[in-house]
Amino acid sequence: MPNGPGAVMSKIVATRETQPNRHADINRLLHKAWKKLLADGPVSFLRAGREYVEGRHRSWNDARLDRRWGIDTCGIDLNLAELGAAGEQLAHGTYYEPIQIDVFAEIVRALPIAPRDYCFIDIGSGKGRALILAAEAGFRHAIGVEFAPRLHAIAQRNLAIYRGVRPHACSIENYCQDATSYDLPRRNAVLFFYNPFDDVVMRAMLERIERSWREHPRDLILVYRNPVYSMVFDSAPFLQSLVAHRAYRVYRASAVA
Ligand SMILES: C[S@@+](CC[C@H](N)C(=O)[O-])C[C@H]1O[C@@H](n2cnc3c(N)ncnc32)[C@H](O)[C@@H]1O
Repeated sequence: MPNGPGAVMSKIVATRETQPNRHADINRLLHKAWKKLLADGPVSFLRAGREYVEGRHRSWNDARLDRRWGIDTCGIDLNLAELGAAGEQLAHGTYYEPIQIDVFAEIVRALPIAPRDYCFIDIGSGKGRALILAAEAGFRHAIGVEFAPRLHAIAQRNLAIYRGVRPHACSIENYCQDATSYDLPRRNAVLFFYNPFDDVVMRAMLERIERSWREHPRDLILVYRNPVYSMVFDSAPFLQSLVAHRAYRVYRASAVA
């Protein structure tokens, strides 16, 4: 096998010929980066570069979970109607995007509770990634509620595979229904919202949670990831704000009112 600069050059030429799309992508990226540097200046350019690299690393890490267990939780699905969701809440629902593994871990660390004493409830549970992460984090029990049947079916498959890998993980229930018709269990729970719907449905959901909590006082921790409608939570008198992070909020309705 020949070595030296000549061999390296022929390798580059061969790669250019066999992977033309990859080179076009790199050229486009470099061109975009150069334009951004000229337009925004070096500080903003470096910040954007760091965010880009972090994002790529996060996607790689998230995909690794799927590869490791042979599950399917990645991807963004924009069209909920095509996924079988229907009814009056459809227009208020947010598209599917799975929770980022590192963000989930950070949120769990920020909670003022021991997961083993709480049930984890994912409102808008999609393909079930948060349920699996909750089981891995040591919650006592996990429940998912998702209104898009196709996402629910994928979650069921994922959960069956997960159960095969971790037969002793906590019990996991997964329901295909509109979250505003779901009756909360009467136990201490962490309610997880990864921006599932708009403020209209969020208000209806919070009224339901407040009613259930007043009838059966217990400790409820509400986590709101990507808190675009946090004002709905902030203005709910039964909730106390615990964490106000840029990327997520944590609220509490205590067992002692
Ligand atoms: C951003 S995704 C979050 C998925 C999942 N919680 C996770 O963290 O991996 C929001 C999910 O909420 C679901 N959703 C939206 N409106 C809903 C409703 N009214 N009832 C139940 N699920 C809903 C969507 O179908 C979507 O799967």
